Amino acid sequence: MNNQNTRVVLGRRPVGEATPDCFSIETEELQPLTEGMVRVAVEYISVDAGTRTMLKGEGFHNQVGLGDTILASGVGRVIESTVADFKPGQAVRGGLCAQTIATVPANMLEPIDDSTAPLSAYMGILNGSTGITAWIGMHHIAKPQAGEIFVVSAAAGAVGSIVGQIAKLAGARVIGIAGGKAKTDYLLNDLGFEAAIDYKNEDVSARLRELAPDGINVFFDNVGGPILDAVLDNLALRARVVICGAVSQYDDMDNITGPSMYLRLAERQSTMEGFAYFHFPESFAQAEAELAQWLADGSVVLPESILDGIERYPEALQFMFNGGNIGKLLVKAG
Ligand SMILES: NC(=O)c1ccc[n+]([C@@H]2O[C@H](COP(=O)([O-])OP(=O)(O)OC[C@H]3O[C@@H](n4cnc5c(N)ncnc54)[C@H](OP(=O)(O)O)[C@@H]3O)[C@@H](O)[C@H]2O)c1
Repeated sequence: MNNQNTRVVLGRRPVGEATPDCFSIETEELQPLTEGMVRVAVEYISVDAGTRTMLKGEGFHNQVGLGDTILASGVGRVIESTVADFKPGQAVRGGLCAQTIATVPANMLEPIDDSTAPLSAYMGILNGSTGITAWIGMHHIAKPQAGEIFVVSAAAGAVGSIVGQIAKLAGARVIGIAGGKAKTDYLLNDLGFEAAIDYKNEDVSARLRELAPDGINVFFDNVGGPILDAVLDNLALRARVVICGAVSQYDDMDNITGPSMYLRLAERQSTMEGFAYFHFPESFAQAEAELAQWLADGSVVLPESILDGIERYPEALQFMFNGGNIGKLLVKAG
């Protein structure tokens, strides 16, 4: 058995963009397992936009300390265990962090059944911070109705592409906002969205006025900044704005730019509500079951962008913030 773990460590706190030189790749000898612990060979690591907020050092939940392994969800297989419930070979998921071999308390692991969905799907469509986030935001807050004009930002990303597909299943008319022609083509041709706006090359507000002259009923926002303002400026009466995230703001969280068009909420009798998926644990099982069903019957798809090798994790994080991924971004650790 390989007796070494390779891990991605935070070397310095990023100022602005989290470039690969903020991280180092370190190896360590594995120590004998102590009681209650389980050792897992990590196969896929989830790369999440929210990880950037964990590198700041203060102010937001789940901070990564200097010299610590980067926090991340992962899936893998048990290779050694002191606990009867976890036998070698069992597929598991949990907070395995950005490393090749995770040694974790058994109560931090959840067994998964990889005969019904591939392991990587448990880090994508069936993952808490991806598919389940999309489901919870849609089910509890956005609540799209047939015929409504529904806009989603970071629409070709992991959360956004699932959100748009769920809106379509509800019968809404979906407009996706994403960066670049490859992504808008993907939204139109592969996901069947009614329209797509390339925010890097088009005037978002002007295009929204053209596409939705009577206004937008629901906006599911993943990016914040100028895109949030452009949509607020084009709301219909009694619209719902869902704040899922604000990826455009994560590189400089000391100077977050709030929406300047928020008075449209008053003028259009509209609401804006944020959420975090981990406040809805009672919905996880229902969300996962419904997403698994949609995955199995092809109603919802989530392509994967996979970078191979643990040493590519820093590059993957940068790739995401430069908009490189379509669908779920993963690092294959094993
Ligand atoms: N509330 C919750 O519980 C919860 C849970 C998980 C995730 N989230 C949020 O969900 C959002 C999506 O996360 P994800 O992990 O699925 O990432 P993702 O959408 O797969 O990747 C992030 C995407 O954001 C876009 N982007 C990057 N910088 C941008 C900028 N300055 N302006 C506009 N778009 C930009 C890029 O696409 P383009 O090429 O289109 O720019 C990139 O592909 C994030 O805001 C995240 O924080 C919230």
